[in-house]
Amino acid sequence: MSARTAPAWAALTAHAARQRSSHLRDLFAADGQRFEHFSLQAEGLLLDYSKQRVSAETLGLLAELWRSADVPGWIARMRGGESINASEGRAVLHTALRYQGTQPILHDGVDVMPDVRQVLAQIERFCDAIHSGHWRGATGEPITDVVNIGIGGSDLGPKMATQALSAFHQQRPRVHFVSNLDGAHLAVTLRHLEPQTTLFVIASKTFTTQETMQNAASARAWLVSALGEAAVARHFVAVSTNLPKVAEFGIDPANAFAFWDWVGGRFSLWSAIGLPVALAVGYPNFARLLQGAAAMDEHFFSAPVEKNLPALMALLGLWNTDFLGAGTLAVLPYSQSLELLPSYLQQLEMESNGKAVGRDGQPVGVPTAPVLWGEAGTNGQHAFYQLIHQGGRLIPCDFLACKQADFPLPGHHEKLLANVLAQAEALMRGKTRAEAEAELRAAGMAEEQVAQLAPLKVFPGNQPSSTLLLPRLDPYTLGQLIALYEHKVFVQGVIWNLNSFDQWGVEYGKQLAGRLLPMIEGKTPVTGLDSSTAGLIAACKGASCGS
Ligand code: F6P
Repeated sequence: MSARTAPAWAALTAHAARQRSSHLRDLFAADGQRFEHFSLQAEGLLLDYSKQRVSAETLGLLAELWRSADVPGWIARMRGGESINASEGRAVLHTALRYQGTQPILHDGVDVMPDVRQVLAQIERFCDAIHSGHWRGATGEPITDVVNIGIGGSDLGPKMATQALSAFHQQRPRVHFVSNLDGAHLAVTLRHLEPQTTLFVIASKTFTTQETMQNAASARAWLVSALGEAAVARHFVAVSTNLPKVAEFGIDPANAFAFWDWVGGRFSLWSAIGLPVALAVGYPNFARLLQGAAAMDEHFFSAPVEKNLPALMALLGLWNTDFLGAGTLAVLPYSQSLELLPSYLQQLEMESNGKAVGRDGQPVGVPTAPVLWGEAGTNGQHAFYQLIHQGGRLIPCDFLACKQADFPLPGHHEKLLANVLAQAEALMRGKTRAEAEAELRAAGMAEEQVAQLAPLKVFPGNQPSSTLLLPRLDPYTLGQLIALYEHKVFVQGVIWNLNSFDQWGVEYGKQLAGRLLPMIEGKTPVTGLDSSTAGLIAACKGASCGS
């Protein structure tokens, strides 16, 4: 039965109508132990969801929804290697990439673990060779800089994780990421690099992605013009499922790191796509990242829904989106090192669940993935928080904080924590007209001014948020955090009856770009287009577009 036609869905709809009139500050006033009742400590992480607009009844109904959607059955199907990515005919086994146990994990009846472990060993050897200086460039110099060329899942995950683990970076190599088709990205990155000491990692699951192939070709030309064709073997490695294409590009098969079609692009950080992370932080730290993710997997697979971190985050998100009517989710990490988490989650959540047609080919009929956005720490406070506080829209927020600083400069971390907690509190409580007036009077303002300013100083509050507290940001906790969001996405996809692992919506634009390119290049006449697209092509060409 689809979750939407389950009795729990109708019960939640009716419950939401009743719940809508209650304010979070009243819920806190009515229950002095609301934090104890609506927070969960598991695997060393703390999820405080007491500032979500939920009651025990809400959670009971949401758990009912989990059961009626048969989430446990879908988890078993995923772990069993079934082709749950049905539209692409693929299994979904990224959890095997970080599996720490000794059981076989079967795909088409074959244990995938020997291959997984072999590639991990290859990554470890390669990292050692780069870090020890054993691997040298064509002129005999050690590698000082690595440039990962990839896009989407072949960029966002490793880039985010590399930045998140800044406190663990080895002295060498520096790791850079190039993704955008705009030549500025590659050109600016290469501006301060030397070909003799630069290694390129070409990361692409398909090895056909236009952006990556163009950047890879330009990087190759840059290297070859300085060091000659023979240098390619010492300065290019590849990560891909498409090894014939890697060879065609001219990369030595010995320098190719494989992964498999049962790893979705946006779930591929744990495969050799994580190579730049391992190069930045050292293989032992990369292994800790995998261990953290594996611990979250075990928790997700075994904890009951009420005590299950990914399940709770998924259900709370679903409640906000489908029953309270929120169209958006702000992810607000109060850690500079997690600055890229929102953009990573944009792909994870919106490419996975930004779909309106279900597994059965029928309209899902309810809103799915919210528009996810966010910004690190206090920077957001000085940019868009005004709108969250007083813009009149429902904007659920995920606040993320670490108990310990990864760069403990005196005087910083306590202030940072005070800010994150204060923002969540302010969004929950709001400020009434009476409180605003009392404050202004206490500041000695005349009644006329009080009347003028008080309405502007009212905060509606009742803005739902969760706060996720990590003990610290290290490879293990980062692994836990990413796996937590991965599983959250999976649970929501199951309840919406979506295939979270395909991405047909990305294809159409690619297809049309392929048709427009020869027109922009002047190789074919500009025909058969709408007047806007034709007009823009004419304008681009008039300004010597691309030359
Ligand atoms: O954006 C579409 C997409 O297919 C993503 O799913 C993927 O992560 C990205 O392109 C890059 O693909 P590839 O790794 O094959 O270059």
